Amino acid sequence: MEKVQGRGILGLVFLIIVFLSVSSGEAQSRSVLVNCGANSSVHVDGRRWIGDLAPNDNFTVSSPVIAASNSAADSDSTLGPLYKTARIFNALNYTFAGMQGNHFLRLHFCPFPFENYNVNESSFSVVANGLKLMIEFNVPAEISDKNLHQQNSNSSSSSLSLVKEYILAVNDVLVVEFVSSRGSFGFINAIEVVPVVDTLFADSVSKVGGSNANFNVSGRGIETMYRLNVGGQEIQPNQDSDLWRKWEVDSSYMITADAGVGIRNTSNVTYASNNDSSVAPLLVYETARVMSNTEVLEKKFNMSWKFRVDPDFDYLIRLHFCELVYGRANQRIFRVYINNKTAADSFDVYVRAGGKNIAYHQDYFDTVFSNTNTLWIQLGPDTAAGASGTDALLNGLEIFKLSRSANLAYADRIDSAEKSGSHSKSWILWVEIGAGVASVLIIAITFACIFCFCKNRRKQKSDIKDNPPGWRPIAMHGAAASSIASTKGGVHSLNGSLAASARQKWHDAPLSPWTKRLIDLAMKGDGGPAETTVLANSMLQLHFTVEWPKQVSSES
Ligand SMILES: *[C@@H]1O[C@H](CO)[C@@H](O)[C@H](O)[C@H]1NC(C)=O
Ligand SMILES: *[C@@H]1O[C@H](CO)[C@@H](O)[C@H](O)[C@H]1NC(C)=O
Ligand SMILES: *[C@@H]1O[C@H](CO)[C@@H](O)[C@H](O)[C@H]1NC(C)=O
Ligand SMILES: *[C@@H]1O[C@H](CO)[C@@H](O)[C@H](O)[C@H]1NC(C)=O
Ligand SMILES: *[C@@H]1O[C@H](CO)[C@@H](O)[C@H](O)[C@H]1NC(C)=O
Ligand SMILES: *[C@@H]1O[C@H](CO)[C@@H](O)[C@H](O)[C@H]1NC(C)=O
Ligand SMILES: *[C@@H]1O[C@H](CO)[C@@H](O)[C@H](O)[C@H]1NC(C)=O
Ligand SMILES: *[C@@H]1O[C@H](CO)[C@@H](O)[C@H](O)[C@H]1NC(C)=O
Ligand SMILES: *[C@@H]1O[C@H](CO)[C@@H](O)[C@H](O)[C@H]1NC(C)=O
Ligand SMILES: *[C@@H]1O[C@H](CO)[C@@H](O)[C@H](O)[C@H]1NC(C)=O
Ligand SMILES: *[C@@H]1O[C@H](CO)[C@@H](O)[C@H](O)[C@H]1NC(C)=O
Repeated sequence: MEKVQGRGILGLVFLIIVFLSVSSGEAQSRSVLVNCGANSSVHVDGRRWIGDLAPNDNFTVSSPVIAASNSAADSDSTLGPLYKTARIFNALNYTFAGMQGNHFLRLHFCPFPFENYNVNESSFSVVANGLKLMIEFNVPAEISDKNLHQQNSNSSSSSLSLVKEYILAVNDVLVVEFVSSRGSFGFINAIEVVPVVDTLFADSVSKVGGSNANFNVSGRGIETMYRLNVGGQEIQPNQDSDLWRKWEVDSSYMITADAGVGIRNTSNVTYASNNDSSVAPLLVYETARVMSNTEVLEKKFNMSWKFRVDPDFDYLIRLHFCELVYGRANQRIFRVYINNKTAADSFDVYVRAGGKNIAYHQDYFDTVFSNTNTLWIQLGPDTAAGASGTDALLNGLEIFKLSRSANLAYADRIDSAEKSGSHSKSWILWVEIGAGVASVLIIAITFACIFCFCKNRRKQKSDIKDNPPGWRPIAMHGAAASSIASTKGGVHSLNGSLAASARQKWHDAPLSPWTKRLIDLAMKGDGGPAETTVLANSMLQLHFTVEWPKQVSSES
């Protein structure tokens, strides 16, 4: 009986959901743009951003919160005025009501110094309607990681801010929940909630490699990982009407940048269907990258792009094409490889799009397993297909991460060493305890040795000056090392090979990555230089105490 009732209620809920989604089908819900930590609304980039300190009827903010401002924020960005204020939080909720359907959620971060909050030590998690978006997220580390990638690929662009973009299905209420990691804090500069037209992810998706099974994206949370205007210039949010997406330049992701050249034809590009007009702006289709070396008749290489992604997630790869040069079929036929697997062969854009200058896109689905963190996309000629030339073409590229078990977050993206200071603090505490124990041990052993030394003094009149030079660096570490110096006699009594192996270990010890890391962490602590030296010494001594008793006992 209860089961039947349960089903009845479920059925009712289902009907309500269906009713809501049908009734809201065409009703465009509005965008809500939040300027966090600000008193008043501002017009930035052609849009009105509501200051969240004043009450408004579009969203609510949990209280109490700290508002921070900084006059010298990222002035390079068009969004600079937004980035001058932020909210600092331990826990913070933004609640948006009256939202229906799929939405972009964009979170803007631009770290700046404020009072005694060290942004380098910020660390927080974000959950939206139960979907985990970020965990233990450290904005400065993410930004410097991204800038490092740009430098490594010879790109001059370097950024002071970070935007994370998600696509979520919302049924009436969207709650974005920010929670700082233990002992840390978080911040947020601006939030965008922008409705997405239902047709954006309406297509069926083919799985890469082997099986032809189609994949259904609906019901999953999505994070935008990369969005590139291939072969063209950066497209700013205000050039992508309604959806405000940013399209990056692709060259810094290419394995060999000169494998492809950019081409452009703005004369008459159109969408294959009106339904596609929100998939990408026409600007994306007006430029493309084709294979270089047009003089070489038979090209035997691929255009390859490599992306760092998070392992253990499914990815949706959307490729945008538009044939800009040839007005006939069979001129340019190529293969698409994703993660070294053939995603498509005999790919003739002219045929698939239905002509020249027609915008077309194709979605693929692939899983990145736990043993890798890269995603490769390669395009190369399909010589088997009988094309008149050997070439390939790509206009745009998007990579989306799909949620698994209501999770989109990946914590270990960046080495935890670069992350929150609260981690290093607990490490330092641990090291200090270890060092304390070590010191007690050293003193005890020193006394024991002095005792032994005095006892055997008459038997051992050999010259102490012959001490192996390998000991010197340790003794030079300062005051705490004096206890070592006073026990040199005991060391000297070791036989040659033992002393040599012990010396080798000493040499190695300070160089081991673990030790280096501990010293490194200690240096970052609050203790200052003096404490750091002592700490480093204690750690070296800790190693010493491990080795020495063994040697002494083997001697006696
Ligand atoms: C908010 O406005 C008050 C005056 O109305 C001003 O004193 C304060 O500095 C403003 N705060 C911010 C973050 O702009
Ligand atoms: C809330 O949104 C509506 C519609 O976009 C807008 O007219 C109104 O001014 C907004 N409220 C505030 C306080 O900005
Ligand atoms: C945020 O919302 C969640 C539930 O959606 C609630 O558990 C939590 O206490 C809220 N946090 C704050 C700071 O209001
Ligand atoms: C944060 O880290 C960056 C680079 O790692 C450094 O330049 C900056 O001074 C640090 N800021 C603070 C407040 O420690
Ligand atoms: C970057 O530029 C240098 C010299 O300008 C060149 O030697 C190097 O190969 C380039 N690296 C990449 C990844 O293009
Ligand atoms: C995708 O899944 C949803 C429910 O999760 C279902 O309503 C929809 O019909 C499915 N679409 C396809 C193409 O299978
Ligand atoms: C532009 O394309 C449309 C449709 O493909 C076509 O009807 C029109 O003639 C084209 N115009 C030019 C100038 O090529
Ligand atoms: C465009 O969308 C409408 C409804 O949203 C649908 O009926 C139509 O078949 C779609 N057209 C194409 C070419 O997919
Ligand atoms: C650009 O497209 C137009 C219209 O299809 C065509 O006439 C022109 O030759 C094309 N330009 C290039 C450089 O391919
Ligand atoms: C694809 O092949 C390249 C070498 O061509 C290799 O470095 C890379 O790891 C491979 N990628 C995957 C996902 O297997
Ligand atoms: C292009 O890449 C694919 C997948 O990694 C590889 O199998 C193929 O051999 C490459 N083609 C050429 C010409 O290098």
